[in-house]
Order: sequence, then structure tokens, then C-alpha cells
Amino acid sequence: MVLIWYTSGHDILPAWGSTGRPCMTINGRRCTLFKPLHDQSDQIHPIWLWLDPTTRCNLSCRLCYTKQSHGKLDLEPDDLEQVLIKLATSSAMKVKGIHLNWRGEPLMNPYFAELLAITRRLLPHSPLQWHTNGTLLTPKRVKEILAVPYSHTIYVSIDGGNQASHDLNRGEGSFQKTMRGLRTLLDLRGRDHGHVRVGVYQIDLNEPLEDYDSEFLELVARVDNHVKVTPLLPGGAHHKIRELDDLESDEALHRRMSQDINPSLPVPTGACFWAGHTLCMAPDGETSICVISHGAQGVVGNLMTETAETVVGRAVDFRRRMAEDGRQSILLCAGCRKPEGEIHAKHTAALRRADGREPARQYA
Ligand SMILES: C[S@@+](CC[C@H](N)C(=O)[O-])C[C@H]1O[C@@H](n2cnc3c(N)ncnc32)[C@H](O)[C@@H]1O
Ligand code: SF4
Repeated sequence: MVLIWYTSGHDILPAWGSTGRPCMTINGRRCTLFKPLHDQSDQIHPIWLWLDPTTRCNLSCRLCYTKQSHGKLDLEPDDLEQVLIKLATSSAMKVKGIHLNWRGEPLMNPYFAELLAITRRLLPHSPLQWHTNGTLLTPKRVKEILAVPYSHTIYVSIDGGNQASHDLNRGEGSFQKTMRGLRTLLDLRGRDHGHVRVGVYQIDLNEPLEDYDSEFLELVARVDNHVKVTPLLPGGAHHKIRELDDLESDEALHRRMSQDINPSLPVPTGACFWAGHTLCMAPDGETSICVISHGAQGVVGNLMTETAETVVGRAVDFRRRMAEDGRQSILLCAGCRKPEGEIHAKHTAALRRADGREPARQYA
């Protein structure tokens, strides 16, 4: 799997105000940051945010790891604004990166461009990307998105490399619609790439390069970033698709997982990267511990009705329990094959510096 780590030299670092408490300016308002009472460890927690503009999706991809939580909720711009003000002013966390997508297809929300503008305005320095299946990238929607005057990266999801493999995962006719959407985006963005980066996010379906579609290759040559990932298969294992036939039905995929793949991949015992480092917020504010969590067991709070400190505190505690008592002790995670992982050492060091525990140092 290709893992992209985002780093930024422009993180929101609290300044010290005349009151002696840290403060920052949000939306033209000067906000004082209070140290949360629960935060005995005196730590600023690095958080990667997944904000779901909608739980609705117009496709039902075979491999999609979020589709069992698809629904009918759309995120309201006012709700998003309130949540982001809380997050941006919280001294318990530091937003290291934002995904303006999670479970659904972001463009199913008619106010997506407004949500994008709000997110960038309130968290201007955290790298922001969002993924789309591209089928709704009409000239009108593309112009709305390009008119949002802030930087962001759009990933168009195209799987396999040709029509047959893409459509096997995403449904008949979707390859052509997605290719049309990507072309519209690249054409309207024009030569002056400005503030919008465009990428292709491709699930590797083990297709040989010689079978790739020529138009796909032409468009990939025009994007700023091409990310090819090994699929995340049911049960949390990142594993190659051996044969396209495995995607013929849910049963075929589950048979392959349970008979061939999972038995050779033991469930790790330690904490995964995600728990305690990611917050995934649904359109109603319910916030889950990781992107592949479904149902109430993975919910650590509600960012619309509770404080950011409370929700982050529960997420960090969830991770601590997993690290101390083992993954198998947590019902939600007991069978998950996501590898063990810590946050990148570079982020840890940067957070200590922000916390005043180490001298500042430039890093790439
Ligand atoms: C859940 S989708 C939501 C956004 C949008 N509907 C889309 O398809 O791009 C977010 C990203 O997850 C990727 N994705 C979905 N299921 C996956 C899987 N099993 N393995 C790897 N990536 C997956 C999609 O390709 C997409 O880039
Ligand atoms: S388009 Fe995206 S959200 Fe919808 S089913 Fe496919 S991967 Fe999942």
C-alpha cells in the first residue's frame, strides 16, 4: 500500500496572549484557549479528521469499506462551522490533516462547495483532501468547487485501470462516467493549476499494465498525484486481489477472505495507527474511532453536542486501553487485521515543540 504522510510547516500553533493564556484568531475573533481539566498528561494530541459531508452514495462498490454505514444524512454548513470552531480552538488537539469525505459520496451533498469553504476558512493550515467517485463532476459542480478560493487536493477514485475491472468493483457504466468527470475537472482547472491539486486514487486490482485503458493512462499523466493502493479487504487486511473473479459477488469475496487470506494473516495484538489519532465525524456529529468502524461500539462521542476535549479524551483512552490490555480485549477491534502502528516520529517531535518541551526546529 502507498501511504501518504502529510506534514506541514504551517500548523496552527497557539500564540501567548496578554492574559498569559494561549490564544488564536478564528473568524476575526480572538479566542483564549483553556487547558482541559481532564488532560492530566498536558499533551496536545495529533488528530487526523474525517468529516463526512453525507452518508448518501450513488454507487455501491463491491470493495467499499464504508457502505454498510451508508444512509440518508447530509451535513449542514452551520453544524460544521460550530464543530470546526471548537476543534480549532481546542488546546487538547492539533488537527494534522483533514479528509472532507468518509462514508458517502461527498458530491451527493448539494452544499459541498460551501462545506469545503467553511473547512478551509476555519482550519486553513491543515492539509485537506477529499475523495470522489467522480460521477457527479459536472461542469456546474466543478466550477463551484474551483471557485472556492482555498487550497485542497481532490482525489478521483478509479480502480483497476480499465473499464472491466473498475466496473466490476463500482458497477456497470461507472468507469465512463468517472473518466468524464475527471476530464471535466482537469480541463476546467486549466493550465494554471492554482490552489487545486488533482489526483487519481486507484485501488490495485492486479491488472497488468498492458491491459490499462489508454484514456485512463492519458488522464493519469495529467494529474498531480497518482496513488495506487492495495485494497483493504473485509476484516481490515490490506491484501492483493488475486483474481478479478473474487469481485463477482459478495459471497466470492468473503469466501476468498475466510478460506485463503485471513487464516494466513494473524490479528495483531497491539494498537493500530488509527485509534486515538483519528476522529471520523458523521453528518449528525456522531464521531467514531476509525474509518472502518460501524455501529455504536466505535463511537467515542458527538462533536456537535460535546466538547472537543471530551471526545478526544475518550479516543485517547480507547487507544490506551488497546495498548495496555491488547487488541483482543476490545470487542470492536478483536478481529481487525489493521497493522500495529504509532504516529510518525516527526509529528511527535513537532507536537512536543508546540508544547514548549523542545526547541523549535524547521523540518521538511
Ligand atoms: C469510502 S470512499 C468515499 C468517497 C467517494 N465516494 C469515493 O469513492 O471516492 C473514500 C476512498 O476510499 C477508497 N476505498 C473504498 N473502499 C476501499 C477499500 N476496500 N480499499 C481501499 N480503498 C478503498 C475509495 O476508493 C475512495 O478513494
Ligand atoms: S462510491 Fe465511494 S462511498 Fe460509494 S460505494 Fe463506492 S467507495 Fe463507497
